[in-house]
Amino acid sequence: MAYIAVLGHGVVGSGVLEVLTTHTESIEKRAKERIEVKRILDLREFPDLPYSERFTKDFEEIVTDPEIGIVVECMGGLHPAYDYVRSCLLAGKSVVTSNKELVAEKGAELLALAQEKNLNFLFEASVGGGIPIIRPISQCLAANEVSEIAGILNGTTNFILTKMIREHMEFSEALRLAQELGYAERDPSADVEGTDACRKICILASLAFGTHVYPNCVYTEGISGVALEDVDFADVWGGVIKLIGSVKRLESGQVHIMVCPMFVHRGSQLASVDDVFNGILVRGDVTGDVVFYGKGAGKLPTASAVVADVIDCVKHMAARKYLFWEDAKPDFVADPNTADVTAYVRVSGETGDAAFAAAERVFGAAHVKRLLANSPKAGEAAFVADGETEATLAEKLAKLEAQGVRVENRIRISDY
Ligand code: HSE
Repeated sequence: MAYIAVLGHGVVGSGVLEVLTTHTESIEKRAKERIEVKRILDLREFPDLPYSERFTKDFEEIVTDPEIGIVVECMGGLHPAYDYVRSCLLAGKSVVTSNKELVAEKGAELLALAQEKNLNFLFEASVGGGIPIIRPISQCLAANEVSEIAGILNGTTNFILTKMIREHMEFSEALRLAQELGYAERDPSADVEGTDACRKICILASLAFGTHVYPNCVYTEGISGVALEDVDFADVWGGVIKLIGSVKRLESGQVHIMVCPMFVHRGSQLASVDDVFNGILVRGDVTGDVVFYGKGAGKLPTASAVVADVIDCVKHMAARKYLFWEDAKPDFVADPNTADVTAYVRVSGETGDAAFAAAERVFGAAHVKRLLANSPKAGEAAFVADGETEATLAEKLAKLEAQGVRVENRIRISDY
């Protein structure tokens, strides 16, 4: 019998209990041992559950129990999750977590501690919900040099954007629905402002390039500035708007890494990733592009990834899974202002024609292409500007503003 404990009985923690209960026999066959949840840590009371006697409010009961060999952390947030996970590793227990904030902020340290103690620290559920992505990058694609990763990494924002694109639904209404369905974070601004996607691209970048990338080093922009007008112009351009987390290795050995809404062409495999689904494109030198697709949030898909890690731990109690990256190096993340960019820009002025004429003067007529709206708004124009870097784009937009042309929005255009 393998005894485990689960920290947190929220959306994911309760899903883990459900999957272990509904799939007991098949899981036992795969793990070659029965898995029993001995303790569940939560401050709330759950008197009506068939396993309510296993709840505790006291973490010490778990960390000091020699029978518990694996601890599953599904609390979310950095504290006390980090303190508990660290204590469990120090006490000789392997840890499985779904907590992307924890892995993005403390991954290098916790992986080093797990290595020192010859334990496993696994986090398949931290990126892409039910999509296998951590193992494929660390194991199945290990023969490749990965040059780039780009993905729709947040289910909530993808759900909201899909509702805006398909149903012209208001942003707030779509967010409320995502919360009801259990997709959104406790504080949904982490979804909407791109923080959640940022943590996930940091984890993928750290894994693929072997050096920890901390979230505070990543330029991050969310979807709260995306208007229905932008959705319409994306359609005229030939695509859709998606929140993309991307990382690209440069010849210098540095990486460009960013999270922002992007125009994605209809022909791209990422364009048809809708609703709560995530899609992650990994560009390898041997494989070419490999795309992973599936439900990126929600109780059971995420629990599926957690339980798979638990099975892996049970099968490797005496051996470590190879999963490791070094701590951050100075200058590993390149200055985002040096990145090349093609961007859609929506401007307004006295008339749309006048605003566009100003853009032609500032960018050069050969570098701007006007987009004509299906239902034009008085005074507005939109165009695509190419051949810029982030720095020159910002300078030119400031020049336009100085000439009395208001920049309503600008959204980068992806080449994935
Ligand atoms: N809030 C997250 C999302 C949950 O919407 O993708 C899964 O990490």
